[in-house]
Amino acid sequence: MRTLTVPLGERSYPIHIGPGLLSRSETLLEYIDSNQVMVVTNETVAPLYLDCVMRHLEGRQVATVILPDGEEYKTMDSAMAIFDALLQRKFNRNAHLIALGGGVIGDLTGFAAACYQRGVPFVQIPTTLLAQVDSSVGGKTAVNHPRGKNMIGAFYQPKCVIADTATLDTLADRELSAGLAEVIKYGLIRDEEFFLWLEEHMESLPRRDPEALAFAIEHSCRNKAEVVAADERETGERATLNLGHTFGHAVETGMGYGNILHGEAVAIGIHLAADLSRRLGWLSEADVDRIVALLGRAGLPVKPPVDLGTERFLDLMAVDKKNVEGQLRLILLERIGKASLPMGVEIGPLRATLDEHGRG
Ligand SMILES: NC(=O)c1ccc[n+]([C@@H]2O[C@H](COP(=O)([O-])OP(=O)(O)OC[C@H]3O[C@@H](n4cnc5c(N)ncnc54)[C@H](O)[C@@H]3O)[C@@H](O)[C@H]2O)c1
Ligand SMILES: [Zn+2]
Repeated sequence: MRTLTVPLGERSYPIHIGPGLLSRSETLLEYIDSNQVMVVTNETVAPLYLDCVMRHLEGRQVATVILPDGEEYKTMDSAMAIFDALLQRKFNRNAHLIALGGGVIGDLTGFAAACYQRGVPFVQIPTTLLAQVDSSVGGKTAVNHPRGKNMIGAFYQPKCVIADTATLDTLADRELSAGLAEVIKYGLIRDEEFFLWLEEHMESLPRRDPEALAFAIEHSCRNKAEVVAADERETGERATLNLGHTFGHAVETGMGYGNILHGEAVAIGIHLAADLSRRLGWLSEADVDRIVALLGRAGLPVKPPVDLGTERFLDLMAVDKKNVEGQLRLILLERIGKASLPMGVEIGPLRATLDEHGRG
């Protein structure tokens, strides 16, 4: 088992990473010091891993909420279902919540934990690669509003993160690749050495080599933990985690939610951000080629599957919530291993990037 810490003073917490952690009682129980526990999961994950978690909780007052699977259930209604169940059981302010699942379950459960009686402790048990390297760490919790994704939420840190890498064995190949987009992102924005490691070992990751996966997850989490420790509320460096995301969100919205995975859209966005960085004279053509090659080896697309058209693409980007007062601000790459802070971008080079690569 590898353990990292997210250093946030009295809200610091560990991230445990390794195969088989779910079958070890002590890893989980160290963080559950309440008799009242609620496990939140979904219909896909429950048959796979719920029993394994429940076994450790025998003798306690345990409730489960099993939601339907999908981003469309990351809503206030689902949060309300959790509150209903907590209140019905008369769970008190010391009740503990456990999020067992991917980023949807993690974000939703964290949000419910932040709200219930003004905040109860919760534990993240992420079961997708994306959740293990990204969403379970850092304390961003949210539900979606019909007018926008993640629009209702809170910063609320878990008590611990338990990433059992063996749970990735049941994950669909496409979901695994989607998580790799965020892994590659960490190398690009702040860790050149990790990027070089990924170039050398990428073949092992889609095949789920346990050692390689554990290494990649650990290094991703370490980067995320450092960024979060430096800038928990995203007033500066944390914004660099959004590399590729403004482009990516445009692709996600343009394609219609559910037609492309977040990580796939981010991979396309990373390519576009890299191409734009080249046009501004920061990256070389060879750098962009390396990035495109690595994304491809991870099983990720680098161009939108349909032609959105440059004008529509620009429209979709302009409504991204990360834009401060109308000006389109993007994270770009100064070099492989160093991202810029969000910066205003001239429309000319942006159009050129979209004209050349924004179509399928
Ligand atoms: N809080 C953050 O900082 C942050 C960061 C990135 C993304 N997110 C959020 O995370 C969500 C996406 O997370 P995701 O990619 O994990 O999607 P997800 O939670 O929808 O999981 C993807 C699919 O895999 C299934 N699944 C989960 N674990 C499995 C397993 N071990 N075996 C088989 N199937 C499994 C799920 O049921 C689902 O069908 C989005 O809502 C996004 O907004 C949050
Ligand atoms: Zn992302």
